Amino acid sequence: MSLLVLGGTGTLGRQIVRKALDEGFQVKCLVRNFRKAVFLKEWGAQLVYGDLKLPETIPMTLIGITAIIDASTARPSDLYNAKEIDLYGKYILIEAAKKANIKKYIFFSILNASKYSEIPLMSLKLKIENTLINSDLDYTIFSLAGFFQGLINQYALPVLDKQSIWITGDTTAIAYMDTQDVAKCTVKSLSISDITRTNLPLVGNSSWTSLQIIKLCEKLSGQRSKISRVPVYLLRFARRFTQLFQWAWNISDRLAFTEIIAGGDKFDASMDDIYNVLQLNKNDIMTLELYMQEYFSKIMKKLKELNYKVKDNTEEIKF
Ligand SMILES: NC(=O)c1ccc[n+]([C@@H]2O[C@H](COP(=O)([O-])OP(=O)(O)OC[C@H]3O[C@@H](n4cnc5c(N)ncnc54)[C@H](OP(=O)(O)O)[C@@H]3O)[C@@H](O)[C@H]2O)c1
Repeated sequence: MSLLVLGGTGTLGRQIVRKALDEGFQVKCLVRNFRKAVFLKEWGAQLVYGDLKLPETIPMTLIGITAIIDASTARPSDLYNAKEIDLYGKYILIEAAKKANIKKYIFFSILNASKYSEIPLMSLKLKIENTLINSDLDYTIFSLAGFFQGLINQYALPVLDKQSIWITGDTTAIAYMDTQDVAKCTVKSLSISDITRTNLPLVGNSSWTSLQIIKLCEKLSGQRSKISRVPVYLLRFARRFTQLFQWAWNISDRLAFTEIIAGGDKFDASMDDIYNVLQLNKNDIMTLELYMQEYFSKIMKKLKELNYKVKDNTEEIKF
């Protein structure tokens, strides 16, 4: 089976490329910057130029492809409106997939998107979900809650660096998952014929609030965190204000997500059926405790080595 992966340079996409290559798939990556994607080529993937903002570049990338895994999404730094990438670009991709007779189409959505359709990114995800449902493609939609990897910048580094961590309320618990596990399940699903035209949640084994994650980072690093609380009404005001300007819609979207984190919902789902279908065991899935433990022990070791060197140098200078 030959795969076309979109978003191969991203947090999740790169893990999918790695896993698919390890499993013996032929992998082609649609990328918009070859230099940035050179590591994918070194791993053994083929690179092909494409940009979801440039519809004419999409159909050619599908030549010789049996399955598409779309892990792309607009970067927060992208000045363009997310709609161009996460809606119009994907409409074109789905149309091209139909014409190219693609056998499997995998798309990543966001858990609970239908509850928050007033948030632009959620509504774009829902529109693509519906387009797939109304197509005759054999699709799998995986609805994700969040990644362990994002928690490093959000919590682990600020705790280590004694920077302020901004939180709103602390009631929403999210079942974050390691992107390596998302990739493992995604690639495995390609070989399971029971998984067809369906939407499945893909989440970690336990859900975490911001404060619980901060406490875990404090425990593992031995550092105390600096927590700053932002009132939700302030976020709401900032969101409404940024919504007035098209160039600020991405910021507005992100503020809306922060509001969700304060909203007390649960971003969690049972994975028992999916593990059964995928023939995976719950214990094969990484826990946040272990992931953070490995991260902090690596970083603490590096910091110790650095101190040693500084000490050695100082002693050398003294002599
Ligand atoms: N992160 C989360 O917590 C989370 C939660 C729920 C669902 N998801 C979904 O999971 C998927 C992967 O997310 P992620 O966090 O791994 O994404 P990411 O790290 O932000 O990566 C985005 C990827 O999309 C590519 N891309 C952006 N604009 C493009 C364009 N115009 N044409 C072609 N490719 C383009 C980027 O390429 P460049 O490197 O060239 O920018 C990059 O490879 C997305 O569908 C996302 O919505 C993520």
